[in-house]
Amino acid sequence: TTPQLLAGKRVVITAGPTVEAIDPVRYLSNHSSGKMGFALARACVAAGADVVLIAGGKVALPTPLNVTRIDVLSAEDMLIAAQQCVDGTHSELQLVFEDEHDHSHEHDHSHNHSHEHHHGDCGCGDDDVSDHNHNDNHDLLQSYDDNQFVKADIFIATAAVADYRTEEAAPQKIKKTQDAMTLSLVKNPDILATISLAHPELFVVGFAAETQDVERYARGKLVAKDLDMIACNDVSRADIGFASDDNAMQVFFSERYERDAVTLEKTSKDKIAEQLASIIGQAIGQ
Ligand code: C5P
Repeated sequence: TTPQLLAGKRVVITAGPTVEAIDPVRYLSNHSSGKMGFALARACVAAGADVVLIAGGKVALPTPLNVTRIDVLSAEDMLIAAQQCVDGTHSELQLVFEDEHDHSHEHDHSHNHSHEHHHGDCGCGDDDVSDHNHNDNHDLLQSYDDNQFVKADIFIATAAVADYRTEEAAPQKIKKTQDAMTLSLVKNPDILATISLAHPELFVVGFAAETQDVERYARGKLVAKDLDMIACNDVSRADIGFASDDNAMQVFFSERYERDAVTLEKTSKDKIAEQLASIIGQAIGQ
């Protein structure tokens, strides 16, 4: 069994890409799969934590058991969701209840936020479906009420947030009447830095993907975004990162911890996530 290094801790994780609308049918995004964040959510639950997972647009992964999942599209929505989850005020987010056995996870993008909780103990048989859903919703609402105003202890940002978005999405589909067109973009908020700087007491973990000078850039981000810990991978290596199932990382800590850097050898994202969860548990327990 996994040591319960995160017992009683509330963890908020961002994962996946963000999707920035250009018009009602087009968007800007990236190839992030969300695998690292979802693996971390599982690993944190296994280490005893209570986990809220904020997934950016289009993550097509099943929700890990016993994780509260919130789906958002854009960086702006992800920031709002992250602020509310970290402050424990996220119960006002729109709740969408899905059949817990439907792991295909069809997104309903007419909602800005959707919210679900996956229990491990759902023993639903072939009973009346509407009745089952009704009871389920009641339990879920009860658990959200209980969790209201519970502040997070740990924030982990694995999301590949789009650096830029359109200033305003066009209200109608843009027509191809011109031979060339220019999209005017504005910078997105830095979710990690915003959350970290506003919550000095929170243990904040960032990720970085670099192609060179990994340690120098990582330490720069550690300071600039006021992080407690940063996990970096070298994306110039073709065998790790992004859509891959494997990863290898170097972990650096804020000088506050007097902890040496840790190298995690190439292995599955699940194994990396387990190691990161225990490294976080050790650092906060120190
Ligand atoms: O600055 P850079 O994008 O390399 O930083 C990566 C880290 O910052 C990741 O943890 C990522 O999730 C987070 N980030 C964020 N919001 C942004 C950009 C990055 O939370 N707008």
